[in-house]
Amino acid sequence: MFYLTTAIDYTNGSPHIGHAYEKVLADVLARYRRLRGDEVFFLTGVDQHGQKVQQTAEKEGVNPATFVKRTTKKFLNLWEKLDVRYDGWAETIDERHKACVQAILTTLQEQGQLYKKAHSGHYSVRQEQFLSDRDRDESGNFGPEWGEVIVIEEENWYFKLSEHTAWLKEYLETTSDAVLPAFRKAELVNALERNSGTDLCISRPKERLRWGIEFPFDPDFVTYVWFDALINYISFAGYRAAEGSELPDFSKLWTADERPVHIIGKDILVPAHGIYWLCMLHAMGFKDEEMPRLLVHGWWNIKGEKMSKSLGNIVDPNELADKFGVEALRYYLVRDITTGKDSDFDLERLIMLFNTELANELGNLCNRALNMSQRFTDGVLTLSGATTEDDLTLQQSLAESTAEYRAAMDEFDVSRALQAISRHVVHCNGYAERMKPWELKKDPAQADRLATVLYHLAESVAHCSVLLSPVLPEAAAKLASQLNRPDLLDLRFGDLSWGLLADGHAIGKPKPVFPRIVIEESAE
Ligand code: ME8
Ligand code: MG
Repeated sequence: MFYLTTAIDYTNGSPHIGHAYEKVLADVLARYRRLRGDEVFFLTGVDQHGQKVQQTAEKEGVNPATFVKRTTKKFLNLWEKLDVRYDGWAETIDERHKACVQAILTTLQEQGQLYKKAHSGHYSVRQEQFLSDRDRDESGNFGPEWGEVIVIEEENWYFKLSEHTAWLKEYLETTSDAVLPAFRKAELVNALERNSGTDLCISRPKERLRWGIEFPFDPDFVTYVWFDALINYISFAGYRAAEGSELPDFSKLWTADERPVHIIGKDILVPAHGIYWLCMLHAMGFKDEEMPRLLVHGWWNIKGEKMSKSLGNIVDPNELADKFGVEALRYYLVRDITTGKDSDFDLERLIMLFNTELANELGNLCNRALNMSQRFTDGVLTLSGATTEDDLTLQQSLAESTAEYRAAMDEFDVSRALQAISRHVVHCNGYAERMKPWELKKDPAQADRLATVLYHLAESVAHCSVLLSPVLPEAAAKLASQLNRPDLLDLRFGDLSWGLLADGHAIGKPKPVFPRIVIEESAE
C-alpha cells in the first residue's frame, strides 16, 4: 500500500497557489502510483485549531467552530474544482481525531514521557505569546509591535523531546530516504546540531486558548496546535481507532515495506515534521523502519518575493482556474517547478508552457493523428505496411520517454516526467513532417505506407493519453474517447507496450483538446 499525505492547511485564511500546488502534486503522484498498479491511500485535510484561528474568528465576530466550517468549505470547494481526488479527509475538530490525540497523550503520560512545569518569561498580551531575547530590538527592548509586555509565570505540559534527539540523529544518518530531496535532509541535520536539547511545550492554558483539544488528565489545558495537527497522519489512518470505526485499517496503511510519504513544504520541516513529529512517533513506539518519508517541496514565490498578505501578492487558484482552465493550472503547477526547489510563479510562463507544449506540440500531434486518419483512411487504422527505420526510431523514442517518465515519477519529479513526454511528442511531429502523410495520400501505391505512418502517430497519442492522465485526467479522457478507446485509462503501466491500438481499429471523431490560451490586449 502506498500511503500518501499532504500537510493539512490552516483554516485561518483562504487557499492560495502554494496550497494548490501541494495538493495537485500529491494528487498527481497518487494517480501515477495507481497507474503503476499500486494500491494507494491519499489523505489530505485541514488544520482547524490554534490561536490564529481563535484570533481571526474573534476579529470577524463569529465563534471558532462557525469560522472553521466556513474556511474549510473553501478548501473543499477548491479541491473539487481542481480535480484533487483524495481517499481520506482530515479535519482536526473531528471527534475521532480528538479521541486519538487524547489516547496518545494518556499513554505518553503513563509512560513518563510528559511532565508539568512552570515557566516564567516576558509575554505579549496583544500577540498572546511568550517572547524571547530574539524578539528584542537593537536597543534591547520589546518594540511597540508587541503592545503591553508583562512578566508572567505559567504552568504547562512538556513532552520529553530531548530524550529522543540522539535517536533522531542516528536515524537520519542511517536512513537515506528519511528526508527527500537530500539537501533538505542536510538542513534538518544542521538544525539538530544546533538544538540545545530543550523539551517541547505541548499545552496551552485555557485562559489563553480555548480552541483546542482538551488534555484528558488536566482539563485546564488544551493541546498545542502542532502536537494536535501532526497526529492527523495517523488518527485518520485508523491508529487506535474505536472498534467498528469507518477509518482505514492502520496496519494496512502504515507499513514497513512501503513506508508512508508525507508531502510538506520547506517551512514546516524544521522543527515540526523533522524533529517534533519523528520524535513523537519514536516515543509512541514506532520503529525506524516504520518512520514516514518526508518529501519536502519548495515554495512558489512572486517575482522573487514571498507571497504574503502584507505584500498583497497572493495568487488565488480559483481565479486562475476560471480564467485559464483547471488543467492548464494543474499542468503549470507541476511543470514549472522541480520538486524540492523554489520557483517563481509567472503567468506568462503558464501561458507559454501551455501554448507551446500542449496547444502547439501535443495539439498538433493529436490533430495529425486523428484528423488525417479520419480524412485519409476513414478513421480506420491498419498495420499491413512494412516497418522502416524511421518507424523503429519513433518506437524507440516512445520507449525511452516512457522509461524516463517512470524513473522521474518514481523520484517524485513530475516536471522531468512531463518533459520526457514532450520530447516524444516533438519527435512525433518531426516524424510527421518528414513522412508527409499529406503527400503519401496523393499516391495510391503508398497506401500501406500512409497507414503505417498514421498508425505510429495514433499509437503515440494513445500512449501519451495514458502517461498524461495523472496530471491532465480530463484531457486524457477526451483523447482516449476520441481514439474510441476510453478503456485506455484503465490500463496499468505494465500494459503500455507498442500495439495498444489494434489492426483495423476505427477511431472516433477528433476535436481539439488544448485550445491555445489567447490573452486579449487591454483597450488602453
Ligand atoms: O503549515 N508555495 O499550514 P499552511 C508552496 N497547518 N507551498 C506553500 C506555500 C508556497 N508559497 N505556502 C505554504 C501549515 N505552502 C500547517 C501544517 S501539517 C501537520 C500542519 C505549503 O496552510 C506549506 O509549506 O501554512 C505547507 O506544506 C502547506 O502549504 C500548508 O501550509
Ligand atoms: Mg504556513
